[in-house]
Amino acid sequence: MIKFSRDNLSLAFERFGHGAPLVLIHGFPLDHTIWDEIVPLLKDDFDLILPDLRGFGQSDAADADYAMRDLADDLAALLDHLGLESAFLAGHSMGGYVALAFASAYPRRVRGLALVASQAAADAPERRQGRYAQAWNIAENGIGDTVAAMTENLTPDPRVRKFVHDLMRRQKTSAYIGSLKAMAERADTMQALEESAFPLLLVHGDADGLIPVERAREIQARVPRARLVELPGCGHMPMMESPRPAADAFLGWIK
Ligand code: MLT
Repeated sequence: MIKFSRDNLSLAFERFGHGAPLVLIHGFPLDHTIWDEIVPLLKDDFDLILPDLRGFGQSDAADADYAMRDLADDLAALLDHLGLESAFLAGHSMGGYVALAFASAYPRRVRGLALVASQAAADAPERRQGRYAQAWNIAENGIGDTVAAMTENLTPDPRVRKFVHDLMRRQKTSAYIGSLKAMAERADTMQALEESAFPLLLVHGDADGLIPVERAREIQARVPRARLVELPGCGHMPMMESPRPAADAFLGWIK
């Protein structure tokens, strides 16, 4: 992987292909390898940039607490490092929250935004408390309970479930805790999306057991210019469960 430094952290990313720059941002608690199957389908049309968010994959973990805005600033630093003024952004689940934080902070740097199995709503108070409890449990007992709970609801596809389970097991405890706090404290971005002007794409499986497809439908209802692509029978990992239709959604978006 390629590395660059920001905030005293070494942050890793991959880059493949040629065309319009598209940053593919992974979700929680994963890394850039979730995009491996879709890369060959997109690399002739996009300059694909695949970061490992701070703490995940081969990127360093931060010592102190951080917010979604810090993860967005990591992305801005990555674009600066690559000499890119703007890019398309596609965020999977928590990666969508990072993309939305980036769009709030740097609207002019966004050529288009795609939310893949993600949402614009902030956590309800009980969900936020649940995240703090989960972070506490991880600090005390490790990641086992979280991995088990997420695996169960992730996807109907056993091959994808196994891959993601093994990937989750490899991530650092500090990245789990840091991201749970950042997710708990993230802002609601629905109004910012309504007021934004960049092209908006929503890709969501209708069998997503972690973030229900209704969240994408709500965005579409509030932001009529958004293009919603619903993938039948697909769970929380569209780029692995339905790579061809997910890639076609991206290709249709820039054509
Ligand atoms: C993710 O898949 O990134 C997370 O499940 C998102 C969330 O917990 O809100």
